[in-house]
Amino acid sequence: MKDLLRLKTSLTEEIETLLNEQIKVEAHSSAVYLAMSSWCDRNGFDCSAKYFQKQSGEEREHMLKLFNYVSDLGGRAVSPEITNIPQEFESFRSVFEQALQQEIYVTQQFNRMAARCMKASDFVTFQFIQWFLEEQIEEEYVARRALELFDVIGEEGTGRYEIDKRVPKIKYHK
Ligand SMILES: [Fe+2]
Ligand SMILES: [Fe+2]
Repeated sequence: MKDLLRLKTSLTEEIETLLNEQIKVEAHSSAVYLAMSSWCDRNGFDCSAKYFQKQSGEEREHMLKLFNYVSDLGGRAVSPEITNIPQEFESFRSVFEQALQQEIYVTQQFNRMAARCMKASDFVTFQFIQWFLEEQIEEEYVARRALELFDVIGEEGTGRYEIDKRVPKIKYHK
């Protein structure tokens, strides 16, 4: 059965597994951002709540992009099971620290995948994931800039209120 399925796709089992793992990573990111949105909303950080909700939607789009790629190549795209989503965060700042850590992790995962594609001579998938590698430049930049606001503006007085307002305005210019 396994061999029959492989006749229908140029994806090796190894690369297909990696792609499905990445589908899960993106779905997990989407769910974490949604939890961050809820936490921000509960704590009065209105703008950041909307920002994280938008991020959550983008991660779902990333997930679908990967999902559709696996399907389009005749592979078996797996609907991911998502568990262990943190619902509580230590502080406003820690939300942004975790967001940046998450993006760095995603970049590392794609780098890992690129290396494996090269090794397996899967240049089709290698080319496909270039979009994600490029996207990660912006994702990391925005997350880093958001975290930097905590030092640039400071949290005292109306600091957190100002930070909240500035977060959705961060733009990445190539
Ligand atoms: Fe993503
Ligand atoms: Fe992201």
